[in-house]
Amino acid sequence: MTTLSQINFRPFHLARGVGVRQVRLACGSVLFCYLLSHYINHALGNISLDAMEYGLGFHIALWQSWIGTLLLYPSFAIHGALGLWALYQRRYFRWKIAEVTQLALGLSIPALLCTHLIGERLGVTLYGLQRGYAQAIYALSIARPDLGAMQTAVVLVAWIHGCIGIYFWLRLKRFFPKIAPVLLGVAVLLPVLALLGFYQQIKTVERLALEPEWRADIQSPARIGTAAERANLERLRNGFLLAYAAAIIAVLAARGIRRIDERRRGMIRLTYPDRTIRVPKGLSVLEASYRHHVPHASVCGGKGRCSTCRIRILGDHDGLPRPSAREAYVLERIGAGADPSVRLACQLRPATDLAIVPLLPPHVDAAFVHAKGRGHPGEERYVVSMFVDMRGSTQMAADQLPFDTVFAINRFLGAASRAVMQAGGKVNQYLGDGMLALFGVDSNPQTACRQALDAAAMVAVNIAQLNRQFTAAGRDPIRFGIGINGGEVIVGDIGYGDHISFTALGDAVNVAARLQDLTKELVCQVAVSDEVYGTAGLPDDAVPVTEISVRGRAAPVAVRTIVDAESLAAMLKGSDATAAAAE
Ligand code: FES
Repeated sequence: MTTLSQINFRPFHLARGVGVRQVRLACGSVLFCYLLSHYINHALGNISLDAMEYGLGFHIALWQSWIGTLLLYPSFAIHGALGLWALYQRRYFRWKIAEVTQLALGLSIPALLCTHLIGERLGVTLYGLQRGYAQAIYALSIARPDLGAMQTAVVLVAWIHGCIGIYFWLRLKRFFPKIAPVLLGVAVLLPVLALLGFYQQIKTVERLALEPEWRADIQSPARIGTAAERANLERLRNGFLLAYAAAIIAVLAARGIRRIDERRRGMIRLTYPDRTIRVPKGLSVLEASYRHHVPHASVCGGKGRCSTCRIRILGDHDGLPRPSAREAYVLERIGAGADPSVRLACQLRPATDLAIVPLLPPHVDAAFVHAKGRGHPGEERYVVSMFVDMRGSTQMAADQLPFDTVFAINRFLGAASRAVMQAGGKVNQYLGDGMLALFGVDSNPQTACRQALDAAAMVAVNIAQLNRQFTAAGRDPIRFGIGINGGEVIVGDIGYGDHISFTALGDAVNVAARLQDLTKELVCQVAVSDEVYGTAGLPDDAVPVTEISVRGRAAPVAVRTIVDAESLAAMLKGSDATAAAAE
């Protein structure tokens, strides 16, 4: 019976991945949608002033509805407050240009925007002012061109800030390289169209402004407010600007106080494989790496998204602060949730001396994150390795055309790979006319051993089928050899740049390769170690066991040799039946 603790509450699971940055992103997305609808509205100016006013009706209906208001203003407040929080929280300012630009533009937006927002929205709400595009264009281009220039600046600043934010968000998504050209086109084209539309209608308004009645109407108190109302709106704007400036100064002061406090609390030692550094308590490991110019991968810039800053803690990790919900979520995503020695350097703020090893090379980039939904930081585990090799390919290359040789090898590898995948294993590497398959990366040793033997049987079946086609076409049949061995090996992502791949290293893998070589001498299709054979639960007396010496090993290896790989299927079935009868 399923107990309550076994039920996977998906929404709660998703909520674990939500942190401050996710909230900031969600609020930023709402603001970006607002900007988008504003830009589209401006772009309608390329058609006519009436089209702009018509579009404004939709814009207002959306953003001045209760739902639009509930989304827009809280998002504005939260996004702005979290921007100040980011300014406080970030310890180290050796940022990339895009990050600095995004922060500087983001901090300037509230100051630039408040005049427009207070005039256009608060004026309507408090005094019922009748605003429209014609009036706004007149005010910004003819009456107060200085405000017009500021308004142009704010829409561009907000747009660039939003685009950089979207870029940082999406670039770690696997689909990003595909949609990036379209997004770039929209990011460049839309503001150009919007500014062009606005500019076109300045001409229209200039013509209309030649008529005194139109001018009188556009400047009437019903539209721009009385002198007292305008003065009140201006006071509100000045009050907001003062409060905002005070908030920034308070954040900077808090940073200074924190720095003094950190110095007072003392330093800790961080030991990397090649150096030891001393840093104040409270710094994240990634910030410490930055500060001391230690090369350290950090594709998302320390936002707890990419996992490329992952480190292994050497020695005792009990005294470390527990991972936050966000860090735990990301670690789980990369398959390191159960390993307390793996942490994210950008999230871990140690308070005691620590020895660490960065798990990824410092130069990994977004392509690595795209390629690895689930990375392997490196671990020791029991894995069954199976080498499958095609016999006679050298002779084939000498006798046949290159095309025929490649065709035959590809068909062979295809047949073997299908068998491996069908049995539940993973094709790990293609090695010329052979391949390495791994079993047990996600399963227990007994399952891994049985899967490997099952795969060997299926390789034989698939190759037999292939040979029937080859014989009918007048080709020579394919022969093969398989070596299988299991044991504790190191598994993890290994390589450089874009060429990082998951693989297994260790003596057990080498022995499997040797066993495959020996199948020629032993005149059999499969040479499997006695250990794998026994763990799979096959009958002890079904196949004789032989002790053979393997190159690079002092002690002989007990091996079972199977002349016909297909016979393994019957043995596995038999052992299943025996096990079922015993139950
Ligand atoms: S730098 Fe991206 S998760 Fe730490």
